[in-house]
Amino acid sequence: MSSSTWQQATFCVFTILAIFPFLSSAGANPNPMMPTQEDKWRPFCHEFRVHIVDGFSNDNPPFQIHCWSVDQDLGNHTFGPSFKDFNFKFGSRVVPPYTHFSCDMNKGAMNLHDVTVFDKQNVENWCCNSGQCYWRGQDDGLYYSNDNSSYEKKYSWA
Ligand SMILES: *[C@@H]1O[C@H](CO)[C@@H](O)[C@H](O)[C@H]1NC(C)=O
Ligand SMILES: *[C@@H]1O[C@H](CO)[C@@H](O)[C@H](O)[C@H]1NC(C)=O
Repeated sequence: MSSSTWQQATFCVFTILAIFPFLSSAGANPNPMMPTQEDKWRPFCHEFRVHIVDGFSNDNPPFQIHCWSVDQDLGNHTFGPSFKDFNFKFGSRVVPPYTHFSCDMNKGAMNLHDVTVFDKQNVENWCCNSGQCYWRGQDDGLYYSNDNSSYEKKYSWA
């Protein structure tokens, strides 16, 4: 691309970004169920992919999970040498009942019951920018990241 084409493209993108908030607010909250404190403009904060990652030092016994929402059972999954990332994609509901995914996780006797891996109140905000929510089981607990690199510990195994 020539530099003037780049300038035109850049100008076009900025123009769209500048007018889009006004276009989207023109609809002025048509649904009264929509929570007003969520009205800040977050166009990329709708589609999410939640990952459950096996970050343990060994597979014996294997890391096992079972995840579900109110209306979906995502089944039981056992991690192994060739299966380290179980993930699923969804659109987060903007009206109640809000999207909520939970998981049971265990590696032998180490376990966590009914961990919230996605909810409107917390996790949606944590992974809003990337749209990717990573939960990684490790030897000492369950870690969270929104970029698959800067993980922080959220839970210790029971
Ligand atoms: C899934 O795992 C749970 C234990 O977490 C077990 O009770 C259940 O029977 C399993 N379901 C299937 C279909 O294997
Ligand atoms: C997450 O990072 C690990 C390396 O730490 C890599 O093996 C894996 O493919 C990454 N997963 C995704 C979905 O990017």
